[in-house]
Amino acid sequence: MKTKTFIGSPILPLDAARKGIFGLEATFTGSGGIIFGADDIRLKTFRRNVQNQSGENYISYYLDTSAAQLIIIRVGYAEGDTPDKPLATVQFPPALLQDTNTLTIKVFGNTAATLLNGQVIDGDVKPHFFFEKPQLTGRQLNPLGESDVITFPRLNKIGLMPGGVYGSLTIFNLRPPHGVLFNANKEECASLIGSLTDPTHGGTALLSRTFNIKGEIATATAHITARGTYCGTLNGQELNVGNKDYFTPGASHFDRHLFFHTYNVAPLLQQGENCLEFTITSGWWSDAQNFMLFKYNFWGDNPSLCMELIITYTSGHIEIISTDETWRCATNGPIRYASHFHGETYDARLENAEKNWQPCAIIEPTPIYEAGEYINAPDLNVTQPEMTPHLGNPVGEAVILRAQSLTTKLDCFIYDMGQNMVGVPRIKVKGEPGQQITLRYAEALYPPLPRYGNLQGCIFTENLRDADCTDIYICKGDSGGETIAPRFTFHGYRYIEISGLDTPPALHEVEGVVLSSILEETGHFECSSQMVNRLFENIRWSQRANFISIPTDCPQRNERMGWMGDAQVFAETATYNANVQDFFRRFLVSVRDLQRPNGCFPDIAPQDGAWGGIPWGSAGIIVPWTLYRQYGNREILEENYSAMQKYIEYLQQNSANFLLDPGIGGLGDWLAYDMTTDDELIWNAIFAYDTRIVADTAKVLGDTATFAKLDALYSSIKQTWNKTFVCPHTGKTRNRTGEINDTQTSYALPLYYGIFNNPSQAAAHLNRKTEELGYLLTTGFLGTQCIAAALSDNGYANTAYKLLQQEEYPSWLYPITQGATTIWERWNSQTHKDGFGEHNNMNSFNHYSLGAVGAWLYSRVLGIRPGEGGGYKNFIIAPCFGELAYAEGHYDTQHGRIHSRWEQKNDGYALTVGIPPGTSATILLPGQESVTAQAGEHEFFVAF
Ligand code: BGC
Repeated sequence: MKTKTFIGSPILPLDAARKGIFGLEATFTGSGGIIFGADDIRLKTFRRNVQNQSGENYISYYLDTSAAQLIIIRVGYAEGDTPDKPLATVQFPPALLQDTNTLTIKVFGNTAATLLNGQVIDGDVKPHFFFEKPQLTGRQLNPLGESDVITFPRLNKIGLMPGGVYGSLTIFNLRPPHGVLFNANKEECASLIGSLTDPTHGGTALLSRTFNIKGEIATATAHITARGTYCGTLNGQELNVGNKDYFTPGASHFDRHLFFHTYNVAPLLQQGENCLEFTITSGWWSDAQNFMLFKYNFWGDNPSLCMELIITYTSGHIEIISTDETWRCATNGPIRYASHFHGETYDARLENAEKNWQPCAIIEPTPIYEAGEYINAPDLNVTQPEMTPHLGNPVGEAVILRAQSLTTKLDCFIYDMGQNMVGVPRIKVKGEPGQQITLRYAEALYPPLPRYGNLQGCIFTENLRDADCTDIYICKGDSGGETIAPRFTFHGYRYIEISGLDTPPALHEVEGVVLSSILEETGHFECSSQMVNRLFENIRWSQRANFISIPTDCPQRNERMGWMGDAQVFAETATYNANVQDFFRRFLVSVRDLQRPNGCFPDIAPQDGAWGGIPWGSAGIIVPWTLYRQYGNREILEENYSAMQKYIEYLQQNSANFLLDPGIGGLGDWLAYDMTTDDELIWNAIFAYDTRIVADTAKVLGDTATFAKLDALYSSIKQTWNKTFVCPHTGKTRNRTGEINDTQTSYALPLYYGIFNNPSQAAAHLNRKTEELGYLLTTGFLGTQCIAAALSDNGYANTAYKLLQQEEYPSWLYPITQGATTIWERWNSQTHKDGFGEHNNMNSFNHYSLGAVGAWLYSRVLGIRPGEGGGYKNFIIAPCFGELAYAEGHYDTQHGRIHSRWEQKNDGYALTVGIPPGTSATILLPGQESVTAQAGEHEFFVAF
């Protein structure tokens, strides 16, 4: 793609009800102030807030020049808020006052800092654990807390307070390029005094251009990308919709790689005038992007489009239509607002409105310098990205669900989709022109427990935190009905709450369009336990839900980010469920893009940052190796080899005597029931494992020198690990100071990674520990992936099967006893007894990490495993039989379907194996010589 010109809207739109990060600045003489956060619809409706508010609401900042004080009043945000009692009165040195004063309020989501004439008068510049440099920190305005809560205030309606003579009022973005969103001059300010105004204006950008075709066309190809998300039409026909290509061009580290899609558009062209039209929205570029609220507008504030259409005439003449200043832009299309986190506002009345076309703007992203402020974060928009053909699995429509049941609660209808899913609704409604329908989404309802007061039965949105997940649809009033179908957002939900309708749509009219990058599945598992079958389904649903252009941690709250720890523990399971080769290759492009000069990988890609450390960063090594093992494609190793080597160098440089410096460690066994597993034991086991993988990679790639070097390094790390972390007398694991550290993960993880010198002794301890715990799981993200295989590979299959079928808390099946239809972030995200416990704010119901046991179901229970050289040309079938009446499943490889089924008989296990044409399998059965089997169906028997 040659064009590098990006075009967009010349003005920034503003949706005040969705805006939580912004600055307000008024210049005035005399005493006066600013009102904002007024008439917040969420606070007017008690079911939409957990503070039990339902009346008038606003926040005012009043500068009292006579007493040199700032008076902050908050009304309607929490019980006890009253205009008579200020939230705060802040005294400041009178010397700061001037004849004309500038009052600046910076609202960071839940907090706000205030400056008078450029000097901070409310707030502090202080150290912050996320940052290297001290940060401006505000006063907490949100009664719910400072982070990980439903965000208050939003900008909402604004006004000016009587008393002052105002010269200007400006609303602007806090992050570069600090774009102005609203600007009132002296006269306009006068009309804002004593009244409330909604500063919302503009809408999503439409970009269009016409061109003429004269002559016969041989080919016509369009290459398209965006800093944001686009949808396009040519002569009214869609380029990238239908059941695939949602959210194009997808997520990437936009500074380094911009992926473009290519479409053959010849069939859409016509002789004479043609018209290209695009809608462009924030996507992964701007708006809310991150659990760190101030990362709002992460890359920039204005999405933009870049495209070129290459038309080759049969005469040989070539014409190129590309984005440039001749395109036009309109902002009065039906999509008034759209973002991934907050939802979409669609005014159907504007579908056929005359567009307010004006010249478009050429958009150049502004550099955002973060280095030194945010730990390890590189600067943004400082390099020219490589324009690269699309890689990965685009997001498409995977399944269409229909609502299963309907309840009426207060003034709204709540539909249960019967399944926690990710996507958008498609709902048939009938309404009057201008009638507003509001849709909100949730993974759970408040259960009937007294602690939830009058919210019982209402949708639970606390775990969505800053993500509004709200769609607004304004009817055109079509007598035949109309369809709500948001296009530029996605939600993680099981329940939809619809308000603004008198009669509920029928169940069959409420569809759930499941969106995912997983459109085809390659694996299946079933067995005699219905509960385990449901676990398998839940794993698949959580993969579907979280594979949206990149692997994410969760699809509902304000994260949806490529957390690498989650990705690496789940990668193996993912490779069985679907062909995710290109999906992960795309992700790894971002991982490499973010590798620091010292070799350190990020913990999140492509969004960057965080503190996960070794287990998270090691995804840069573990994921390519997992892909190579499963797909047998050396290219994946080649692509990542130098980055993998650099990471080992980084680990080596941050170690002494083959033990890592704990300062680079990061997180351990995240969200374990038993959090006591020694972090250093884990990090150093991974240090060894990473080194093993890169040594093996060197071998595969024929780099013998590196192989020899890393193989030796591996031996040293392994020996040191055993000496340090294993008690020579008991064989129990211990921490660096010699204190015994006897947890499931302390054995399971190093066993799975092959680090113990004496694996059978370690496995016996793991088995003992698991028996002592009554066959419960006390592992977190890391240990959970390893435990079943660590047991069954070392002679304790029975224990593994007991763990698998355990239903008490904590276990894989416990969430299913509580109604789970996906894998939860926590073992106890919800219980019948305690509801959501104390976990209202970090409690995803769709987090695949604890579902990493899926790989064990395929590779151990069914026994389908890649061969020595990776891939399935020559593979292994090594089932581990156990306490199930039968287990059966398949895996579709590039060579065809591998099938495995075993059944318990009176005297042993009967196994049937299906081997695809052109492949062979080594069959490894307990107590029997290994057998090599060729294509076809084979039967075996293993006596008890
Ligand atoms: C995410 C995770 C992630 C973790 C690490 C969470 O907020 O959802 O899945 O790995 O943070 O800190």
